Formats: sequence, C-alpha cells, structure tokens
Amino acid sequence: MRNKIAVIGSGFVGATTAQRLAEKDLGDVVLVDILDGIPQGKALDMYESAAIELFSSRVQGTNDYSDIAGSDIVVVTAGLARKPGMTREDLLLKNAQIIESICREIVRNAPDAIVIMVTNPLDIMTRYALHITHFPLQRVIGMAGVLDAARMCAFIAMELDVSPVDVNAMVLGGHGDAMVPLARYTTVSGIPITELLDETAIEQINNRTRDGGAEIVKLLKTGSAYYAPSSGAVKMVEAILMDSRRIMPCSALLNGQYGLDNVCIGVPVKLGRDGVLDIIELNLTGEERASLHASAKVVSDNFNVLIKR
Ligand code: 2OP
Repeated sequence: MRNKIAVIGSGFVGATTAQRLAEKDLGDVVLVDILDGIPQGKALDMYESAAIELFSSRVQGTNDYSDIAGSDIVVVTAGLARKPGMTREDLLLKNAQIIESICREIVRNAPDAIVIMVTNPLDIMTRYALHITHFPLQRVIGMAGVLDAARMCAFIAMELDVSPVDVNAMVLGGHGDAMVPLARYTTVSGIPITELLDETAIEQINNRTRDGGAEIVKLLKTGSAYYAPSSGAVKMVEAILMDSRRIMPCSALLNGQYGLDNVCIGVPVKLGRDGVLDIIELNLTGEERASLHASAKVVSDNFNVLIKR
C-alpha cells in the first residue's frame, strides 16, 4: 500500500515540501491550493522531473479537497507569510480563518490523517487545529522545533567550522521570539557545546537562533524562509511514515508535562506511525523552565484571543 501525503498550500513552503517528499519517494503527494492552476502546474512540473530525479511518487495538484481522501498525513502550509517588521502573532487572525476552513476540509475528507501544522503563528495554529478538528492530540503536531534546532546546528557548525551533520541541537518552547534554545542539551558528536564554546558565543548563537526566521525575512524582503522549513516538515513526515521513533522537538499538546496544561509548545517528542508516541520531559534549570513557561503564556494568551472572538 502506497503512502499518501497531502500538502495544503502551494506557495514556496508547500511546493518545496512536496518536492522533497517526492524526491525522497515517501509516497504519493497531493498539492492543494485554492488558486486555480498553481498547484496543478507546480505538481505537473515536479512530476516531469521524476524520470531524471528517479522517484516513483505520483505528484498531483488540485483545488478539490476531496482529492486528499485517504491521506496518511496532511501537511498544512497555507497562510500568509510574514513581511519585514511583522511578528508571527500579527498573522494570527488572518491565518486562523484560513486554518479553520482547511481543518474542516481535513475532518470531512481525511478524518484519519495525522496533521503536521507549519502555518504561523505555529504553536497557536497547532492548538487551534486541535480545537477545530477534535482529533486526538497524538495526531496534530506542529513543525517548528526541528527547524529552529536545524538553524542552531547551522550556526554552531559555522562557528566551530564543523559539519552540521555532527551537531545535535535542542530548542524548546514556542516558535517565536520567546523560544528556548537549550545549549546544555546540544552536542557535537556527543561533546556538549558548553565545552567547545564560551558563554558569549553560546548567547550569540541562541539569539541568532531565536531570530532565525526574521533574519531570512529581512534578507528576502518579499517573503520568508522555505528551504529549511520544508526540510523540517519532511523530517517529521519521514519519522511518522517509517514508524522510526525518532525524537525531535515538535509542538505538541501538553497535559501536565513541564508543569504546563492545555497548550501546544515545542518539546522533545517521539514520533511514530501513530504520531506523537511520547513526550520527553527534560530536567530544566529554574531559568530554562521560566523561559518555557513565558513562551507557553504567549501561546495560551493568543489562543484565548482566538477562541473568545
Ligand atoms: C521561519 O521561522 C517563517 O516561521 C518561519 O522561518
């Protein structure tokens, strides 16, 4: 039985996600958008590369949500992207409307799918998707920690002149200005970075990680990042479809873990065929825990704004 993955939104993040999924042969890909012709054109163009890139995934573009029926995973990338100077929260109300209608289509057409949320503001949209779909918490997961950790790996690799492949970073908290890069849980081939870098260098890397999305927005001027975000989403899809039980930071609904309740926030999650198999609770210092709680408060406050509208 072939895997089927739906990608909602055929902008840069959605299209690059579809391309990476197809090129890794992870399953048949359905690219959905409301814009007439764009998902169809991009999907056909992608499929026309199959004989060269050597993949067997079928890639279909559509405006019709009934085509997502039977999807194992739905990756949601649709929504507005940040413009320079905008925070992720500025996007809140606009993207909530979009996410609400997409979630209703997912419930109608692919009620057994696992949802990977990519749209910003990420943790709030993940919580909102749970609220709309009423799916079990194992099946609605936000992609952000994988991206934030990958950015931290890149900055550490640049600083130490080592391969990013050997860097393993951990970033907790919301995908926003209050995210919590965890140097104590970050290593290069098992060597804690606290033994390789001094405090000032680590602080600079933490700050650059926190501002990683904004740094790209500032450079691009007319859009936001998509290469690394799509890689993050595909890493999660792969772990789920392969039932690999890999652990990576994802936004998941907490029910008491880390002293937090009823909030989606980035924590280490074990991913497998059923989605979130486990949430790993790390020992945090008082300061790290306070940062995580501050980050969770931003998410909860904004979610409350949404549901009290
Ligand atoms: C990023 O961090 C846009 O949130 C996205 O690049």
